[in-house]
Amino acid sequence: MAIVNVSKQDLASVYSAKEQLRNYYSGLKRPIYYYVHTYGCQLNESDSEKLIGTLEDIGIREGNEDNADIVIFNTCAIRENAEDRLFGNLGVFKARKRENKELMIIVCGCMMKVKENVDRIKSSFPYVDIVFDPQQIHNLPLLMLDKIGRRKQLIDISEEDFIVEDNLLSVKRARKFRALVPIMYGCNNFCTYCIVPYTRGRERSRDFNEIIDELKLLAENGYKEVMLLGQNVNSYGKGDNFDKSFADLLRAAAEIEGFSRVRFMTSHPRDLSDEVIDIMSEYKTLETHLHLPVQSGSDRILKEMNRHYTREQYLRTALKFREKLPEGSISTDIIVGFPGETEEDFKDTLSMVNEVKYDSAFTFQYSIRPGTKAANYPNQVPKEVVTERFGRLLELQNDFVNKSNQSKVGLVEEVLIEGESSTAKDILTGRTRSNHLVNFTIPEDFKLNGKLISPSNPASACCASQFEGKLCNVRITHSRPYSIDGVMESIIDG
Ligand code: SAH
Ligand code: SF4
Ligand code: F3S
Repeated sequence: MAIVNVSKQDLASVYSAKEQLRNYYSGLKRPIYYYVHTYGCQLNESDSEKLIGTLEDIGIREGNEDNADIVIFNTCAIRENAEDRLFGNLGVFKARKRENKELMIIVCGCMMKVKENVDRIKSSFPYVDIVFDPQQIHNLPLLMLDKIGRRKQLIDISEEDFIVEDNLLSVKRARKFRALVPIMYGCNNFCTYCIVPYTRGRERSRDFNEIIDELKLLAENGYKEVMLLGQNVNSYGKGDNFDKSFADLLRAAAEIEGFSRVRFMTSHPRDLSDEVIDIMSEYKTLETHLHLPVQSGSDRILKEMNRHYTREQYLRTALKFREKLPEGSISTDIIVGFPGETEEDFKDTLSMVNEVKYDSAFTFQYSIRPGTKAANYPNQVPKEVVTERFGRLLELQNDFVNKSNQSKVGLVEEVLIEGESSTAKDILTGRTRSNHLVNFTIPEDFKLNGKLISPSNPASACCASQFEGKLCNVRITHSRPYSIDGVMESIIDG
């Protein structure tokens, strides 16, 4: 499979298709709406921001499930339940096709790289208009233009892996102060349980200077938080004749003026260098949170998973981080019930949790992904055994989450404000540098830019938006199972 660097010239036909679509839709003399449903990870969210940016450029407006003319499902294939949700949601749109002849149903994302899923759409969902894969986000206008006026389902799955720099596309960021910035695409690791190398293609890094230019522009435009994204950010630049590493990129990002937080995801334990941990401890803008997926605590299972590290090596990295950043936090991903996992192997995972004391963890029951190596392993673990182990893991891990939250009580933490809490009025929500979720109140008669903000005043309901994206100090007063509570003490940058 070839990796193709797409230039501005290569996109000439895409830009022209956009222009033609703009004319077509404005000729309809009524507002045209889109609705994009995103499943899966932040890379998919980032792709959706590009799809939405393109649609808005064409003049299509944000709508909802009920009024949309252009409906996009950006799918995820990581586990079976992610797939089930798509087919459930698609059915709803069948009847709507008869009512609105402009209705265009588009399915893209990782699931479309799996042949069985495309075959199922062909046979059971003929009313889906367009199917394309995640490598072709930039081709949306060409595909839409192609489909207009033609009855047949349009299926376009590419054989190539593309690099398209963000500045060549339109991006509509979902959040005002936080930007997702992919620094690389694809994955070469082929962990034996994982579908991603098949859906996202070969690992390829974006140009260093292009990323830095994008980050500088984001800072100039008032973005306060950036999340550098990749399946394996630590291998940024490897094998591409690059002279820059992830450590170089992280340092350069941390030095850009204007950002309050620079975050990154995901670190593969095999490739995380000591240098990156050192850099994390040097710069105040870098989060003190490390997401370091362990998957299993058993050397035997790690080998079967093709993870390329041992329990000892993982622990060394985790302990080095704890030593350098004692106030920081570590989160992880764990799979329970990988084929052949014995009670002994599982106990190794529990003891790993006990040793690292994860501040948070995403725990998953192993899901067979057809086409991956582990799908053919003969010794699949029975469902009831997986469920039972999963319960034990959750119980242990929840205890550590609780303890991590409790350890913050009494401290004053720097919090980046995300907005008003979704569950309670007059309560703001945000994250500490260590990625702890904080809900906090504003004291009576608080002053922002010299203006009095009083939470008890009904007019101050509008005040949440004034705080979004600002850094503040919060005194932590209580801990809960999944969050901490506090009171704002002062605004740092307002
Ligand atoms: N690139 C990241 C992970 C991306 S997928 C990394 O290597 O860490 C996110 C998580 O989904 C993985 O860390 C893994 O824990 C989980 N996952 C992936 N495939 C899975 C499968 N077949 N069954 C269950 N969990 C899976
Ligand atoms: Fe999947 Fe492994 Fe690649 Fe992560 S590193 S995306 S788990 S194959
Ligand atoms: Fe899912 Fe694809 Fe992300 S499989 S987790 S959307 S890379």
